[in-house]
Amino acid sequence: MSVFKSNPAGNDKSTPVAFVTGAGSGIGAAIAERFAKEGWDLVLVGRRQEALTETAKRLSAQTGKPSDALTTLSLDIADPDSVSTLSRWLKANENVSNRIQCLIHNAGIYERASSLQSTDTSWHRIFEINLFAVIRLTQVLYPCLKQNRGSMIAVSSTLGLRPVKETGAYAASKAALNNWVQTFALESAIDGVRANAVCPGIIDTPIHGFHTASNKEDTLKVLAPMQPLGRIGQPHEVASMVWHLAGPGSEWITGTLIPVDGGISLV
Ligand SMILES: NC(=O)c1ccc[n+]([C@@H]2O[C@H](COP(=O)([O-])OP(=O)(O)OC[C@H]3O[C@@H](n4cnc5c(N)ncnc54)[C@H](OP(=O)(O)O)[C@@H]3O)[C@@H](O)[C@H]2O)c1
Repeated sequence: MSVFKSNPAGNDKSTPVAFVTGAGSGIGAAIAERFAKEGWDLVLVGRRQEALTETAKRLSAQTGKPSDALTTLSLDIADPDSVSTLSRWLKANENVSNRIQCLIHNAGIYERASSLQSTDTSWHRIFEINLFAVIRLTQVLYPCLKQNRGSMIAVSSTLGLRPVKETGAYAASKAALNNWVQTFALESAIDGVRANAVCPGIIDTPIHGFHTASNKEDTLKVLAPMQPLGRIGQPHEVASMVWHLAGPGSEWITGTLIPVDGGISLV
């Protein structure tokens, strides 16, 4: 049975901790916000320290959590040294690492290229960040999840369920991620650790050029009809499903790949 004690003030021995990668922007920042509002403490991970600090400051203002309940960890998950850096950090911060109950693999990169034009370098980089780093971090953090009978949630993509043209490397990396999440769910169930993936459709975040473009409204008019529900999604709508999978009521859910996409994967 998982422990879902929450303490909005944060950072005591019973407050669960969520470890969120890519928490400095977009979906990851929204996930961190949702968990903070539900009373969890957070480890906010990404490369850009200033973006993580910004997220932590905003969450502290919104929830009243003290800064030591919102830890930031600047880490390039593509760097092979990230494993030893993270291991050292977990040891040095046992007051936080002992409470990690949810690992959310959200960091990811997206590139468009046709199969004939995509380069080896690009395929390697996309797989490194979207898949291999996820597996490496899970290996390092598994003792925390096991100890707390927690769960792992991967932010995948509808493109991993159903590709569209010119997204070959990205879609393949997310399809592999989906498959691995299910393998891991089978392997970790014996320890009471659950694993699920959320597959967003088109979400309004900095991963897309249109997010800050001056002609954004025109782009949204083109994108909206692609979804049966008539609009693209917002980061908090993905965060809701991630929270649902981590929070109380999902203790019997593992190995699922859940689209959060306005219905785009149906058409
Ligand atoms: N937006 C969409 O339409 C959409 C749809 C389906 C799936 N997704 C998935 O959702 C996830 C979040 O993306 P987003 O849309 O929120 O875009 P985003 O704002 O660009 O977020 C991506 C995050 O990943 C982090 N990141 C990238 N490379 C990293 C590395 N090597 N080490 C550590 N952190 C790294 C970035 O932080 P730093 O730059 O600071 O490192 C950034 O905060 C991704 O996995 C993406 O594939 C997004």
